Amino acid sequence: MFGKNFWAGVAATIILGFIITYAVIATGVIPANADATPGWLESWAAHTSLRATLARDAPKAANPLPPTDANLIAGVQLYAKHCAICHGTARGDASASPIAKGLYPRPPQLATDGVEDDPQGYTYWKIDHGIRWTAMPSWKGTLSSHQMWLLSLFLNHMDKLPSGPEGAWKQVTN
Ligand code: HEC
Repeated sequence: MFGKNFWAGVAATIILGFIITYAVIATGVIPANADATPGWLESWAAHTSLRATLARDAPKAANPLPPTDANLIAGVQLYAKHCAICHGTARGDASASPIAKGLYPRPPQLATDGVEDDPQGYTYWKIDHGIRWTAMPSWKGTLSSHQMWLLSLFLNHMDKLPSGPEGAWKQVTN
């Protein structure tokens, strides 16, 4: 239906697209520095893609662990050991570490900018798999599924902890 010239045009356009993409990357026009704030296009693409992945892949079931004091304190302790360096302490933004301040994109300081509203399956997925093109590591291989649910439980209850776990949380330093 289309003539030879049409297909030659399509091929030339595709090849030109590759050449332009290569030139843009190879000449360093896309910034490689971490001391910047992500632009709107980059933020939109990253968040939209993450949201779609979570909707598709995150576990839908509720957290199998009940929010007992013992479970919440175990979650706080895991957080103190593995997460506070990037995500801060009970003092939130005021406790951002030098590492957290230098990362791109910046890790949210979870006491200030928390994930209590997120389904716990979403938080579990992020801990399990990490978030590509950010400093958020995948903890698969380091933490057990039980430990990841303990962390999800703590993060979900962070702003409404009973007094025992709240005391443990207040003592976390980074
Ligand atoms: C080396 C730094 C680093 C460490 C350590 C780290 N994270 Fe993260 N984390 C990040 C960054 C950066 C982001 C933001 C990613 C983004 O912009 O999408 C993030 C995002 C998250 C989010 C999503 C927050 C939101 O607002 O949606 C959760 C939940 C989370 N991390 C939990 C944890 C837990 C739990 C641990 C410890 C087991 C941990 N992180 C350890 C860097 C880190």
